[in-house]
Amino acid sequence: MSDEGKFKKLWGGRFSADLAQEALEFSESTAADSRIIAEDIWGSQAHAIMLAECGIISEDDLGEILRCLQEARSEYEAGRLELRRDLEDVHMNVEVYLREGAGPEIGGRLHTARSRNDQVVTDTRMHLRVRLLDIRAAVADLQETLLQRAAQHTETVMPGYTHTQHAQPISAGFWLSGHASALQRDQQRIAAAYQRTNLCPLGAAALAGTSFAIDREITTRLLGFDGIVEHALDAVGSRDFVAEALSALAILATNISRLAEELVLFSTYEYGMIEIPDAFASGSSIMPQKKNACIAELTRARTGTIFGRLMQVLTSLKALPSGYNRDLQEDKPPLWHALDTIDSILRVFTPMVQGMVLNAERMRELASANFAAATELANFLVRERGLPFRTCHQIVGELVGTLIKEGKTLDDYERVQELLSAQGQQLTIDEIAQVVDPTACLQRQVSLGSTNPEQVAGMIQGLGSSVAQTREELAAVRNQLQQARAHTDQIIQHVLAGSPLSECEM
Ligand code: ARG
Repeated sequence: MSDEGKFKKLWGGRFSADLAQEALEFSESTAADSRIIAEDIWGSQAHAIMLAECGIISEDDLGEILRCLQEARSEYEAGRLELRRDLEDVHMNVEVYLREGAGPEIGGRLHTARSRNDQVVTDTRMHLRVRLLDIRAAVADLQETLLQRAAQHTETVMPGYTHTQHAQPISAGFWLSGHASALQRDQQRIAAAYQRTNLCPLGAAALAGTSFAIDREITTRLLGFDGIVEHALDAVGSRDFVAEALSALAILATNISRLAEELVLFSTYEYGMIEIPDAFASGSSIMPQKKNACIAELTRARTGTIFGRLMQVLTSLKALPSGYNRDLQEDKPPLWHALDTIDSILRVFTPMVQGMVLNAERMRELASANFAAATELANFLVRERGLPFRTCHQIVGELVGTLIKEGKTLDDYERVQELLSAQGQQLTIDEIAQVVDPTACLQRQVSLGSTNPEQVAGMIQGLGSSVAQTREELAAVRNQLQQARAHTDQIIQHVLAGSPLSECEM
């Protein structure tokens, strides 16, 4: 059989007919693969260098392969490399590009000791790792914005809710920093997903490894991986790193959706506690007065689409037999979708939070209006009168019940005084005023992690340091990836200048 084969496909040797057009259209993956072209070229460069270093291909052939791959890379970077659908996927496209440039004799040598099975999962891991870093940086931006806003409002009282009912007074800074705190765990989850993503499956070949004496450490280093997925069968057949990344993204989206929900609620007329910046809200085509928190609503809904992508991937992974199965091709579209969705959410969310206006007056009004200080009144009786908490809960509960019937609040000090006195508790008007004042309520919280302004300021600072640490970590990891790319490039330049590979550090 000639090197060109009877049929168009590079794998066409054993076939007696070309792939039907319908079957090609059904199975080709160039749309999703267009995201991993740079990775596929870098992976091919590293593989070729390793093959030559191990004496599996000649240095002359390596030079020709690298020359063509560099050309492919320049074409790609200039936006001129379009994947041909009839070539099925990115791997075949890059290989055909190489064969056309270097000829089948030399071009045909690149795929020694390699399979699309280990290639595709290598490319996916390389692409995903960078996206995870980008998302962590965007989460850090959101955290910083939340913390900046929180720092301005450690003494701004608002109602804290349980069951979406007024519970106890908190500060707006406490509310906002709470979201930054949750996002710190998302940082950790994405960092953990990164750790299991940035491992090199290349060299697993189709499933069993290879009878060529390759050096997987070289490709691992050249491609910036932190380690190897050693077991070849596991390396090509597993996508739990994709499921793990999607889980981390789904949980991140869940956390952001909780803030989104609050922005929708708190910006309503009924709450009136915040105003969404005009640039992040939209109007109604019929009702001229409307201002809708559409960005927050869409965030809420798109969180569901990310859950869907996670389910989609888990469902295709479930019960898959060992080794590569074509089902695995279906991992990338949902992964890209989830990454893009989170990315776009963060892009709008951070400036929206930055620009939203907090209505401190309305927050204070609501914090006083609906008995949010009742717990503090019970706590006062426990502290000052030495009564059991349950007894005080009962006393204040009866007081509140009567005030509600009378259409009064805890701010009706004289009536509060009378009703407490009827239950045997004598308080001065000053004491009552002090106990139910929402600002004083914040000040009285002393426990670690409470809404007390000093506690909140401390937590804002602590979270700020965590975010700064995240930024340093991200810079170091990005630098490591750039170094690997630069290392590969140095070797390429060296070889293209006609110098021997033995002079290169691997
Ligand atoms: N397009 C495939 C994927 O995304 C690449 C690997 C195909 N391997 C194969 N033997 N057909 O998973």
